[in-house]
Amino acid sequence: TSILVLNGPNLNLLGQRQPDVYGHTTLADIEKMCRDKAQALGVEIEFHQSNDEGAILDMIHAARGMHDGIILNAGAYTHTSVALRDAISSVELPVIELHLSNIHAREEFRHHSYISGVALGLICGFGAAGYPMAVEAMHRHLGEAE
Ligand code: DQA
Repeated sequence: TSILVLNGPNLNLLGQRQPDVYGHTTLADIEKMCRDKAQALGVEIEFHQSNDEGAILDMIHAARGMHDGIILNAGAYTHTSVALRDAISSVELPVIELHLSNIHAREEFRHHSYISGVALGLICGFGAAGYPMAVEAMHRHLGEAE
């Protein structure tokens, strides 16, 4: 089993970026948390971040045949990108939508997600801890599906 963990715009700044909202954990710390969880479960993970919408689309396309599921924190593209939703629909891989913050408790413009309607499920509001939760949820889902 191989899981792709994909992070979108501005998430490279985690730790320094609005720590009151997103916490002090860096993306490197989060990668380590995901790798530790993956190792404990015996699954492989690949971990990426890009600020470029097109690069994120390309990584979703390339995941087909290479990975069994995707954990996606699309950052602000969550609320803007029909292209991202279409890419998810096109690859037919299970996607867990992830956000550090509870997007429904924040500004109105964050309440709508283009991703939720095509996602397997959604984890938000648990900060960095949501990532290992998502790895575990995907592992369970893939185990049930096999
Ligand atoms: C985010 C929430 C988005 O609304 C925001 O644009 C982000 C981060 C989160 O992880 O809480 O960049 O996806």
